[in-house]
Amino acid sequence: MDKINIAIDGPAAAGKSTIAKRVAAALNMIYVDTGAMYRAITFAHLNNKEIPFNELVNQLEIKLINEKGQRVLLNDEDITDRIRENDITENVSFVASQPEVRAFLVELQQMMTRDKGVVMDGRDIGTTVIPDAELKVYMIASVEERANRRLLDNESRGIASSYDQLIADISERDHLDMTRDISPLTKAEDAVSIDTTGLSIEHVTDKILSLAEERL
Ligand code: DC
Repeated sequence: MDKINIAIDGPAAAGKSTIAKRVAAALNMIYVDTGAMYRAITFAHLNNKEIPFNELVNQLEIKLINEKGQRVLLNDEDITDRIRENDITENVSFVASQPEVRAFLVELQQMMTRDKGVVMDGRDIGTTVIPDAELKVYMIASVEERANRRLLDNESRGIASSYDQLIADISERDHLDMTRDISPLTKAEDAVSIDTTGLSIEHVTDKILSLAEERL
């Protein structure tokens, strides 16, 4: 096959974006971080709480620019670093449970994958956004390992956080993302499960690359 789409789903901080970026670079594919899109709408919502979601989404243009990692632009404002801050993380599951927000983003994401050649990570990519993706991966890791990874990640971004708080926050977000009414986080039947606990980034990347080669 000439071009394929790869869907990578899994709970918060399982390593999806780090791995997805590497897979995309190795295969010369486009990486799309859908969590960043939900975070961008959360940023807009926190600044405009009085605007109902169905109106808010019509005022937003979200662009992902593949430059120095991936930059996130909301109505041409670069909010890449801002959307990683705690107030956004604390509110994103609520925003992502809104039907109008999901309908808006799923349509946008489906447009991005129409021509194939995309590695997309999120929660509902294999189940809802690209149910016909040639490769679906469901990535998990223990909550302790995920909290440790997020701690290091936050440190490198200069964001203060505590391990115990991260365990609580990640568990809470898992619960909200897995129990919401629309497109809850769940493994697609035909997804390959990978538990990344104790595995290196290189190991997981190579595993996905070899699964992708089989389908290309
Ligand atoms: O991957 P992340 O932590 O940046 O995602 C932020 C939130 O967005 C996550 O808690 C759930 C939501 N999300 C979603 O509902 N569907 C997606 N496809 C991606 C993210």
